[in-house]
Amino acid sequence: MDPVLNPYNPGAGRRPRALVGRDGELELMDTLIARTSRGMDGRGVILTGLRGVGKTVLLHAMADRAEAAEWFTVRLEARRSVSETFEFQLARALRDAYRASSWRHNLTDRARAAFGTIQSFTAKVDTSGGISASIEFAPHHGRADSSDFETNLLDVAIDLTDAATERRVGVALFIDELQDAPTPILQALTHAVHQAGQTARPFYVIGAGLPSVIRLLSEATSYAERLYDYRPISQLSTGDSGEVLEAPARTENVTWDPEAVSLLVSESAGYPYFLQEFGSAAWDIAARPDAISRSDALAAVNAGRRALDDGFFRARWDRATKAERNYLIAMSSDGAGPSFTGEIASRLGKEPSQLGPARANLISKGLIYAPEHGQISYTVPGMADFIRRQVDSCVP
Ligand SMILES: Nc1ncnc2c1ncn2[C@@H]1O[C@H](COP(=O)(O)OP(=O)(O)OP(=O)(O)O)[C@@H](O)[C@H]1O
Ligand SMILES: [Mg+2]
Repeated sequence: MDPVLNPYNPGAGRRPRALVGRDGELELMDTLIARTSRGMDGRGVILTGLRGVGKTVLLHAMADRAEAAEWFTVRLEARRSVSETFEFQLARALRDAYRASSWRHNLTDRARAAFGTIQSFTAKVDTSGGISASIEFAPHHGRADSSDFETNLLDVAIDLTDAATERRVGVALFIDELQDAPTPILQALTHAVHQAGQTARPFYVIGAGLPSVIRLLSEATSYAERLYDYRPISQLSTGDSGEVLEAPARTENVTWDPEAVSLLVSESAGYPYFLQEFGSAAWDIAARPDAISRSDALAAVNAGRRALDDGFFRARWDRATKAERNYLIAMSSDGAGPSFTGEIASRLGKEPSQLGPARANLISKGLIYAPEHGQISYTVPGMADFIRRQVDSCVP
């Protein structure tokens, strides 16, 4: 079929034509918006799940709803970077939120004061002045200009929510890859949410990250579990998985053979990213202009697997050193896991402490995460099978 019209979007953070099976999480956002408009409080949401389950696209869909309701919405990814601190990333995201904010078209004194506070915050973090230059407000003296990030963040939260409450809306930080935020940052974020909540201010963190983020947040502050609504994002049901394939095709007047759908649904195990990859392959392979057949789907399984092996899995495997690969291989006999770190050490004939560096590097490269102390899992579904295929293909 015409690849130009291919309606599937495999790739990190690429918005699907149909966002399927996440109504519950979207309703959480709608409820928060509705409660805020009535002056009632609520809780932020933390989406957790493996790579490719759809956290980023869901986070953005939630942010879109808040934005449509005229909330002040800040979107950022907590990237591990040697050149940029989280504070800098937040300053840039605040600047972007300011520029996109509908509040600028209906300025009140409180909004002016809040924008001045954002200017103070960015000026403190970005000494070169590049970010501040695009904020047309003078710094708000005495607000967000201390040497303490937590104090400054709280000032921003207070001044923005002062402006938000007169409009009966909220302020939300939508933070992706939250597991990569340093512990002091997680502490500061949670403290700000806590403090704002004590005075019934509508300031929320809506986050997304690997499943380890739950543990990291609660290690950072003991009361985190009461402040956030944790929502595990996992595979889609069989029905929803079918809809991921069929809904985009319907918009192009293309039908799927039911057998083709069930083949790809079972092959993808309900993982949204895999469904997009297989759907995309089936579309390109299909010979007829208006239908995708079982034989197209069979060919798509091979093409899709190849695309996943050469991209999604290979990119991660290639990032690992030899010692790190040995660690990954030792985990593979546990399938989807989790694996116990002590057991991996004995499989490799080493002391657990000798494997500490390999394990730490694999975590910081984003290939594995620790669901609990003493346990370790792959961050991507299907990694164990991929590794076994690598090992098998190396055996003479
Ligand atoms: N609910 C859904 N319905 C249809 N497609 C989806 C859905 N969720 C995600 N996808 C698709 O799955 C792929 C992965 O989505 P996304 O990047 O949001 O996952 P993620 O969980 O953020 O992954 P990572 O942990 O690698 O950042 C994208 O191609 C996206 O279009
Ligand atoms: Mg993501």
